[in-house]
Amino acid sequence: MRLPPPQVAVLEAASASEPRTTDTLAEEIGEDEATVAGAAFALDEAGLVDVTDRTETSVSLTDEGRAYADEGLPEVRLYEAALGVGADEEPASMGEVIGASSLDGGLVDIALSNYARKGYGSVERGELRADRSADPDEDSEARTLAELVSDADAVDPVDLDADVLDQLERRQLVERHDRAVRAVRLTDDGVTALMEGVEPAETADRLTSSMLTSGAWRETEFAEYNVAADAPEIRAGRAHVLRQVADRVTDVLVGMGFQEMEGPHVDADFWINDCLFMPQDHPARTHWDRFALESPERIDDLPEDLVERVERAHHDGAGEYGDGYNAPWDEDFSRALALRGHTTSLSTRYLSGYQVGELEPPQRYFSVEKAYRNDSIDNTHLLEFFQIEGWVMAEELSVRDLMGTFTEFYEQFGITDLEFKPHYNPYTEPSFELFGTHPETGDLIEIGNSGIFRQEMLDPLGVDCDVMAWGLALERLAMLITGAEDIRDLHGTLVDLDFLRNAEVIY
Ligand code: PHE
Repeated sequence: MRLPPPQVAVLEAASASEPRTTDTLAEEIGEDEATVAGAAFALDEAGLVDVTDRTETSVSLTDEGRAYADEGLPEVRLYEAALGVGADEEPASMGEVIGASSLDGGLVDIALSNYARKGYGSVERGELRADRSADPDEDSEARTLAELVSDADAVDPVDLDADVLDQLERRQLVERHDRAVRAVRLTDDGVTALMEGVEPAETADRLTSSMLTSGAWRETEFAEYNVAADAPEIRAGRAHVLRQVADRVTDVLVGMGFQEMEGPHVDADFWINDCLFMPQDHPARTHWDRFALESPERIDDLPEDLVERVERAHHDGAGEYGDGYNAPWDEDFSRALALRGHTTSLSTRYLSGYQVGELEPPQRYFSVEKAYRNDSIDNTHLLEFFQIEGWVMAEELSVRDLMGTFTEFYEQFGITDLEFKPHYNPYTEPSFELFGTHPETGDLIEIGNSGIFRQEMLDPLGVDCDVMAWGLALERLAMLITGAEDIRDLHGTLVDLDFLRNAEVIY
């Protein structure tokens, strides 16, 4: 019989009388374990060996377990001190016994919580009794620790008392480790094959261009691949799920003709709110909702003529029917610095010409950047999140254009069931919110806010055509794409690593 060389080696090294593990075989043959496992599976399929899997458990001491193995378990030390002060005759005060035991800090609590459980005595109303018949030498937990400290490798957990082991694990004094062990044993057919003679076949594991040009491929015997065999898992680096969605969003918007905006995370209220015709007494502008900066307190550099025009719009409004707020407007207030509560601050910077100079229609701009809000955290809210900001500037725009843009954008992510709801923003008219259906829960979730910028906002910025704009939530989009039901499953301390490793961001 002719077999690929690794299979010959495994067959020859395997035994009919006892299973041999793939790691011992690998070491003996000088191959890596994955090759041996692959060869073993092929031989198993051919009926020449039996491959079995089992889980092997080993036990090791934690640092705390090792310390107790050296110095004695805290409850044993307490018991010995109790005997020392005669608590087996007369109850002794806890303070006295603890003093005599020289246990300190957390060890006292540990000693007390195990003392009575293990029959060393009782603790009642500040007094401690010791039971004379208790025997620390017979303490099964202490004995197991001692056994493990001398040679953990020699201890087979199967030989240990399961209850004692559970208890030690609960006390975090030992750790159990499970390891998959794969073993190979020759079958009768395998023995017969070996007796009749097995030779390595000269097989090629890949087709090369020289085989093709020389025609050698015609005579070549190719190795068979077992693509169903287990292979070691290789965990390569991977972009975070949210980053993958953000990158995809960028690709889609660039593909739709948008340019990217950049700007500061900390910005003046002027750019974040005042330029958006947000009244200075708007609830979102109170310290409850925003993360204000303590230092520096304010921005020095603002374009004076723009400040003046914005102030005038707040007072008197703009356009034919504009009315303004008829409320005091304070320049100092607009110079205060905060983490931006939305990335619409980038849009005001760009639309005003401040960031990249005057812009002539048509223009399309976007950003996928962080915004910060002092919200209550729940399954759809975090204190910081990513907004997909965007706007289109053109002579003539309508809500139809907005709806069409969203339909086209969300289709790229397989979302075709958008719903729109009329909404209110101080800076857009008309305005509407966007909703999508969560693939797992079926709930309608809000995924964005949008509208057509008002004249009161655009006039002071010096824009005299239409601008439609939006802020979409990247995390909510990611929830619809991946099926994550809680925003905290996407990022933050609670995220499941397996989710990050395996989640598919559909392209
Ligand atoms: N700034 C709005 C928000 O954070 C989004 C938005 C941007 C709405 C532009 C309309 C126009 O919800």
